[in-house]
Amino acid sequence: MNQNTTSQATASVSAPDLGIDPKACVAPERSDPCTIVIMGATGDLTARKLIPALFDLYLNDGLPEPFLIVGCGRTQLEDQSFRDKMEDALGKAGKFNRSKWPDFAAALHYRVIDYENRESYQNLANSLRNLDKKFNTRGNRIFYIALPPKLYTSAAQLVGQAGLSAEGKNGNGWSRIVIEKPFGTNLKTARELDRSLHEYFNEQQIFRIDHYLAKETVQNVLMFRFANSLFEPIWNRRYVDYVSIMATETLGVEHRAGYYEQAGVLRDMFQNHMMQLLALTAMEPPSRFEADLVRDEKTKVFQALRPFPVENLQDYLVLGQYGAGTINTDPVPAYREEPGVNPHSLTPTFAMMKVYLDNWRWQAVPFYLTSGKRLAKKITEIAIQFKTVPHSMFRRTLGETILANRLTLGIYPDEKITLTFQTKNPGAVVCLRPVTMDFHYQQSYTGPVLDAYEKVLIDCMLGDQMLFWRQDGVERSWAFLTPILNECEACDDQANLLHVYESGTMGPQAIEKLLNHKN
Ligand code: BG6
Repeated sequence: MNQNTTSQATASVSAPDLGIDPKACVAPERSDPCTIVIMGATGDLTARKLIPALFDLYLNDGLPEPFLIVGCGRTQLEDQSFRDKMEDALGKAGKFNRSKWPDFAAALHYRVIDYENRESYQNLANSLRNLDKKFNTRGNRIFYIALPPKLYTSAAQLVGQAGLSAEGKNGNGWSRIVIEKPFGTNLKTARELDRSLHEYFNEQQIFRIDHYLAKETVQNVLMFRFANSLFEPIWNRRYVDYVSIMATETLGVEHRAGYYEQAGVLRDMFQNHMMQLLALTAMEPPSRFEADLVRDEKTKVFQALRPFPVENLQDYLVLGQYGAGTINTDPVPAYREEPGVNPHSLTPTFAMMKVYLDNWRWQAVPFYLTSGKRLAKKITEIAIQFKTVPHSMFRRTLGETILANRLTLGIYPDEKITLTFQTKNPGAVVCLRPVTMDFHYQQSYTGPVLDAYEKVLIDCMLGDQMLFWRQDGVERSWAFLTPILNECEACDDQANLLHVYESGTMGPQAIEKLLNHKN
């Protein structure tokens, strides 16, 4: 797939200083005072992502004044022991700042909760009202559900039954609920979850997270496509040969076997992150940069996905599972040997999918979506492979092959845009030299950078849903994947569909067949 990456020269791009204060781009406005209620406050997500993100926002003046953070969990803790735990978490995340910590810590509170007990939520409601009065947070609240998925429904409903979702009533200001992925496990369960949320919250109050959307380089896809007139005219079937979207990882399943065994790569990465990257790459320009207009266009991409002929699944989909191998010279075990994984597990940890969009712009252009764990490198990127020149006047001297242009939007860890094209190699002999022009985000920007969770939290406080999934998109994405999942999980031949690959490689050999299969 990396046809042009063997380029022999690079050129860099400079970004002119337009005199914009970088801080002005970080947090454009401050939200209303509010309380962020974290359900699952003693869990991993809170320690690794949420508290470090909130503390960073606090350091960059990105939190409202006043703000409160109320952690809720089953563990018996006092406010002070919760603060100690969070101090520890910040230290581990390398984010601790001694001089700023005391003021931030004063905004941290803890309440014990039984997640499935109605009375417990009534107690929480009383407690939140008292805190509002004491700290003047005006009844504005975000309920961040950082819990295992099986508790999403009961937590949301019990928040609602405790009167905490009704905006403008009983001392409430605005009320928002944040739901982490996975949003359901198939089309049916996604719809059920949505119905249960809507019993107490309306769509404007529901924030379905996809942390990929909040990555700077992912947000840049729309800027790049629609703030430049250069690329859009060639962003279609006439000029594009294929598109490759990949999110590969070196990490294995880690301590998440309980979840991952049920999810597998298709639910973990494709239903959400990969579909969003596809939508941003393929969508039409909305008339205005507004949450609903952008999401309307994304939904049209999901609607245009050509259903897989499930009887020929292998021509469109390769599934794999990592075997033992080495990552950065360290030996790593096979997936089936990981703690908590069934030794006969058929859960895929790798998938490559060839999809087509049945619309005017993209007819017959394959989109290869690839994601997997324990692969050779961590790479997230979108590559647009353009067609070769229609006629080569250099044929006699150079032969038929002239590498085609390739534009790569590097999402992570190389946050860059590269364009590869041909030039003449200096000298008397006629020789072509492919060169790559690079733009690195870090190269020309020195201001603060928002981590994805910081962006998600800011947008939620501001009520901006641009970077969150809307239910129609969720359903379209599941509608495409569910028949594939059903077929993969129900067929007798499940074991044959799964190719074991050595950890530290680029995945199963079978992907070659998919890449070469013209259809
Ligand atoms: C998460 C998945 O949503 O995304 C993980 O559950 C995966 O399995 C992670 O490792 C990848 O995210 P990132 O930001 O590291 O590419």
